[in-house]
Amino acid sequence: MAGFLMDNYPPQPVTFVRGEGSRLWDVDGKSYLDFLGGLAVTSLGHAHPAVADAIAQQARTLLHVCNLYGTTIGPEVAETLDRLIGGGGRIFFANSGAEANECAIKLARKWGGGAGRGPNGRGRYTVVSTYGSFHGRTLAALAATGQPAKHEPFQPLPEGFRHVALGDIDAMDVAIDPKVVAAVLVEPIQGEGGVNVPPKGWLGEVRRLCDERDVLLVLDEVQTGLGRTGEWFGFQHEGVRPDVVTMAKALGNGMPIGACWARAEVASAFVPGDHGTTFGGQPLAAAAARATLAVMEAEDVPARATRAGARLGEGLAALPGVASVRGRGLLLAAELTDRQAKDVAGAALAAGLVVNAVTPTAIRLAPYLLVTDDELDEALDILETVLC
Ligand SMILES: Cc1ncc(COP(=O)(O)O)c(C=O)c1O
Repeated sequence: MAGFLMDNYPPQPVTFVRGEGSRLWDVDGKSYLDFLGGLAVTSLGHAHPAVADAIAQQARTLLHVCNLYGTTIGPEVAETLDRLIGGGGRIFFANSGAEANECAIKLARKWGGGAGRGPNGRGRYTVVSTYGSFHGRTLAALAATGQPAKHEPFQPLPEGFRHVALGDIDAMDVAIDPKVVAAVLVEPIQGEGGVNVPPKGWLGEVRRLCDERDVLLVLDEVQTGLGRTGEWFGFQHEGVRPDVVTMAKALGNGMPIGACWARAEVASAFVPGDHGTTFGGQPLAAAAARATLAVMEAEDVPARATRAGARLGEGLAALPGVASVRGRGLLLAAELTDRQAKDVAGAALAAGLVVNAVTPTAIRLAPYLLVTDDELDEALDILETVLC
């Protein structure tokens, strides 16, 4: 059957058919401990009953009407997200992280006056992002992604993107030319790039440069958002105030939904007709997000991620073959001393633990945020066996 799918992904070693909490089962009935969560998506675990019930009930009530008409659940979710971000903003719903970022990039261009044709004629449309970043696979999100090898097969990409090294404030200072730059787009922690944490204070310095030059600070919280790093959003560790925040992954606990939040004044650059989507914010996806956020708040997932992340990080650092551990909360990478990460991830999978190789020499761990101490210890035991 896989023969009918395009060859976008490497050969898949396992076929999963069922999940519950932190467990997955394959077609042969073998069980696995899932410490990847579908790439940091299933933050409440698989088949969470509250989310499953909300989806089932909504499926019987109203799936979709499109954005030409009002619905009730999306606006409710928008209000909750605005509160968790800090208030004073507006939300656009999308269906993925890349789409949330496309919205942010288009908003920044509109706000900056595009290539000189905007109402304020400022002609600022360039977006500065960091090398090693990942912002998605659609063309503009790909152009913002700071990984030249991923650009190569798809040239020419849209113009108006430049990149600087993560943590290099002098390079950022040079890159933010106020005549052409509309926005800086960064992840508070680079996820796909290797779980790279910028130096403390760097984000605040970027904010200062943006303020000085009237440039938007757009934070891609697609992977870091919604409790994973130990705060609702990664920027909250640094006490900065963003202009735009994008999110997706954990928002529907597996139901595809993304969102772009912007300060109300920035959001007002969009007028009807500027940007849209058929599915974004539809009742089914919004019902999943509403249920997900309600459980996240009731369980105080940021606090749980902080606690569990400390235990997991300490356990990883003590394993043989682990040189160092980086990340925050439950978004961690273990840098290996002398093994290929792909081999270790493959051996862990065979031993019943799902993790992935986030770089050639580091494995990523992003378990669900309700992970128990027993599950953490079980994962560490499997990894110890694999690494010995
Ligand atoms: C930080 C970040 N931004 C954007 C994306 C793209 O999200 P999606 O795959 O849902 O388009 C990802 C996906 O890994 C991501 O980690």
